[in-house]
Amino acid sequence: MTAPFVPLVDLKAQYASIRDEVDRAALGTFARCDFILGEAVGRFESEFAAFCNAKHALGVASGTDALHLACRALGIGPGDEVIVPAFTFIASALGVTLAGAKPVLVDVDPKTALLDPAKIEAAITDRTKAILPVHLYGQCADMDAICEIANRHDLPVIEDAAQAHGAEYKGRRAGSIGTVGCFSFYPGKNLGAYGDGGGVVTSDDGVFEELRLLRNWGSTKKYHHEQMGLNSRLDTVQAGILSVKLARLDGWNQRRRELAAMYDEALGGIDGVELTQTDPGSVYHLYVVRMKNRDAALEALHAADIGAGLHYPFAVHQLGAYAWLGHETGSFPVSEDWAARCLSLPIYAEMPEDAVERSAAVLGGLS
Ligand SMILES: Cc1ncc(COP(=O)(O)O)c(C=O)c1O
Repeated sequence: MTAPFVPLVDLKAQYASIRDEVDRAALGTFARCDFILGEAVGRFESEFAAFCNAKHALGVASGTDALHLACRALGIGPGDEVIVPAFTFIASALGVTLAGAKPVLVDVDPKTALLDPAKIEAAITDRTKAILPVHLYGQCADMDAICEIANRHDLPVIEDAAQAHGAEYKGRRAGSIGTVGCFSFYPGKNLGAYGDGGGVVTSDDGVFEELRLLRNWGSTKKYHHEQMGLNSRLDTVQAGILSVKLARLDGWNQRRRELAAMYDEALGGIDGVELTQTDPGSVYHLYVVRMKNRDAALEALHAADIGAGLHYPFAVHQLGAYAWLGHETGSFPVSEDWAARCLSLPIYAEMPEDAVERSAAVLGGLS
């Protein structure tokens, strides 16, 4: 008998476990017909603020918009610069560019793939208006060191927590540590909607008010437009579904931690597999190792019906979209090494445990 396919993430398995509640939440919005900024949006925002230990949360249309709006709410625009890690998903940099500012790339830590605080200061200029660390793979960046540099230069910190719902850093939750935290509710995220969605959290009343204007055409009162804002609201159907899932998120994240520990154990001794250094606060949005021969490993896993992936095969400066930044290959060697050797193995709360052994057998067979 052949082993069943294990996807990178299995949204159908999750839906099967919460189907009645998700259906009820969606049908509730249909019945109320309060599709835009309906009651489920306000409810989810209160619950998500409490979950993150932040004063305010606001639903927006996507994680990309969350980053863009956070920049604009902080007054960042043309002529300004924002420090962004060179190894991340493109949206971290796009949020800055969409606000009209320039992302200034900084290399990452070789052990964690997170923004390297030791390299930030050299990138700060008199145009720098914020530091934007990314909690990549579900693990918080070194926020003590980053916030200390930010405070010294009087800069706000924008956390890209799109992969880190519920992650903890010294007892504080991702998104609540800096000035403003940005989340994605893309379906495959640890807290994912049934379509696009995003959120912003902050404990700064002024930033919150600005965000509230910007996400709704610059107005909080109909036809009174104070700013040139966006149409970027969290859909009410999605908010209702997110509330159902938020109630289970800590449990799902704990299961991800258990599965990650099983991977660590199974892969630790395999020649050619380098584990990513993680801490107990990680919520393992992705389980990523580095391999000597990554492309062969990816092919072998796919041949064994294991849905491995790459996060990400290119650093930001290696993308055509950011060629205009003018960085040569070799500019950010640590980021380039992660891009060349990273390999993501399946991880999700409902994953069958034997996927760990199956993955280990394939990777062990390569060495
Ligand atoms: C690190 C990071 N930042 C930002 C985003 C953008 O989020 P969205 O897809 O909701 O626009 C994503 C995910 O897509 C992400 O992984």
